[in-house]
Amino acid sequence: MIQRRRILVTSALYYANGPLHLGHILEAIQTDIWVRFQKLRGHECHYVCADDTHGTPIMLKAQSEGVTPEQLIARVNVEHRQDLADMLIGLDNFGSTHSAENQAICDRMYLALREAGYIDRRSVRQAYDEKAKMFLPDRYVKGICPVCGTADQYGDSCENCGSTYTPADLKNPISVVTGTAPVWRESEHYFFKLSAFEKSLSTWVRSGATQGSVARKLDEWFTQGLRDWDISRDAPYFGFEIPGAPGKYFYVWFDAPIGYLASFTQLCNRTGLKFDDFLAADSAAEMHHFIGKDILYFHTLFWPAVLEGASMRRPTAVHAHGFVTINGQKMSKSRGTFITARNYLECFSPEYLRYYFAAKLSSGIDDIDMNLDEFSTRLNSDIVGKLVNIASRCAGFITRNAAGALSKALPDPDLYDAFAAAGDGIAAAYETLDTAGAVRDIMALADRANQYIDLHKPWTLAKQPEKAVQVQDICTQGLNLFRVLMIYLQPILPDMALKAQRFFQESSWDWASAATPLLGSVIKPYEPLATRLDPKAVARLVQPQADAAASAQPVAPAGGASDAASLAAAAAVEGNMISIDDFMRVDLRVAKVLSASVVDGADKLLKLRLDVGELGQRDIFAGIRAAYDPALLVGRLIVVVANLEPRKMRFGLSEGMMLAAGPGGKDVFLLSPDAGAAPGMRVK
Ligand code: 2FM
Ligand code: ZN
Repeated sequence: MIQRRRILVTSALYYANGPLHLGHILEAIQTDIWVRFQKLRGHECHYVCADDTHGTPIMLKAQSEGVTPEQLIARVNVEHRQDLADMLIGLDNFGSTHSAENQAICDRMYLALREAGYIDRRSVRQAYDEKAKMFLPDRYVKGICPVCGTADQYGDSCENCGSTYTPADLKNPISVVTGTAPVWRESEHYFFKLSAFEKSLSTWVRSGATQGSVARKLDEWFTQGLRDWDISRDAPYFGFEIPGAPGKYFYVWFDAPIGYLASFTQLCNRTGLKFDDFLAADSAAEMHHFIGKDILYFHTLFWPAVLEGASMRRPTAVHAHGFVTINGQKMSKSRGTFITARNYLECFSPEYLRYYFAAKLSSGIDDIDMNLDEFSTRLNSDIVGKLVNIASRCAGFITRNAAGALSKALPDPDLYDAFAAAGDGIAAAYETLDTAGAVRDIMALADRANQYIDLHKPWTLAKQPEKAVQVQDICTQGLNLFRVLMIYLQPILPDMALKAQRFFQESSWDWASAATPLLGSVIKPYEPLATRLDPKAVARLVQPQADAAASAQPVAPAGGASDAASLAAAAAVEGNMISIDDFMRVDLRVAKVLSASVVDGADKLLKLRLDVGELGQRDIFAGIRAAYDPALLVGRLIVVVANLEPRKMRFGLSEGMMLAAGPGGKDVFLLSPDAGAAPGMRVK
């Protein structure tokens, strides 16, 4: 009998100023697989996450969009929830750091820290933008590197020589917000005395709370000595005001991890769970955080110390993973390899990605490469060629020749027992986050199941009516082996497993269901559980952002004065400058493709039905047939000239024009707004 554990699990919170990308999704998938595994084993496991909504970047992004931060984070929250749900991430609660629950816990924990003597006040000299009337975070000051002289470097470190420094060290510093030179101002800040926790943190790190490679990194930090942590920011700042400190706000990284607890509080309020059972200092429950390796300092030093200082329990474990690379390189917008969750979901089933990442994830912090060729090869070989093949080769004989009934006994019980016995090793791999190991073991079993079917050839025996019982027995064996594999794969392929469970007409599966074969019952007719991936379609995964990158300049020369100047120069050379008034007359709008179809008799055209928000729906004809599969356009956001005079064409009326870049033919790239844009929005 396994003892029932009580476990609280989190993934790192998502900044509320942009779409989720495959890096976020890797972590969500890793966490979700672990959580689903724990639930399947019968443990009480709660998985919460939230949007990370505070801080300067979100405040400025909202300003630039002409909306309030609250409006921005509300919109992004809807998108993030949808992406996570569509990726089959089984969150028990998804909240926001901008919530009443979070504010209440932040205040409570801060006051507990202050009461215990862990908060200090000190004067800090910081860059101030007099035009924007705000203090500037280090990354909002740019200038010449004081060490190597490279221009355009951020105020904290140089991308060229790697030196770290403060904004005051930069030569010719300018504010990224207004382009003006900052001045230096003193202001009082609130510090958390991290140094007081040095000893207890080093004991905690050695308690098995972090992976080996992480513990070694932490040793370096301990050797350097822990510096106290500035947890306050001056107004204007989008966040929570610090109690008893008017005009001072909690730094976003103070309230972000507390957002885990706020999201959990919402779950407690909804379900009757008790917060203190999980968070009290002496709690017997477990708390696990899944994070990327870039935010270790916050989770393995600040966060456990803040919890301890506020007399709460520390995390049981912090599990860090590496970054996602695409074809061996960092995801990059300009290379067209920045794949958002939505881009992926518009092309493929979430379970393909879940399986692919699972097959590559281990407990280490190495980067995970998504090689697009390997992606299709692996999916086609493992899921279609091995796994689903077992069921599709056996099910038809049971349905057609045995009225859907499984035999009452297995012809090879030893083989079944070997599959059941493999469960312990697979469970151990899941438990230790070695999902690559779990997948390897499961696929080795799939090979054995296929060998069994190859050896007994039910399709040959089925031609001899007197062998009907033998065929039924062989296929019962094959289907039972398939069933065990699907139970083991349930954390990774939850939808496919559910379909398989329904095919076997069973009401639920837990891990122990694999121990006993299913005999004598009736199965449903088999419906294909997965189809082959087209490698060409996979290659198109990297297309949408390539479009955006190609289009960014002509539509909106973003910010940088030099970009704008060089574009203007290029236009002048060609003698086709237009005035700002000319430009303002063009009504550019975001539109959503509702349907797309080929046009009979016009081999270059597609007909698109568009939703242009407040301007209603309209049809346009576009010469993009060589470049785009109409099916892949549906649901996509594009940019259209909405006030172009309708044009009568041979095939119908075209009521606008879509924007695209490229020379034509196959090389046409549609402009693709971020998923956050809505039909009808003006493009400025
Ligand atoms: O690095 C990030 O994306 C942060 N939004 C993670 C926050 S995790 C937690 F501390 F809230
Ligand atoms: Zn430098």
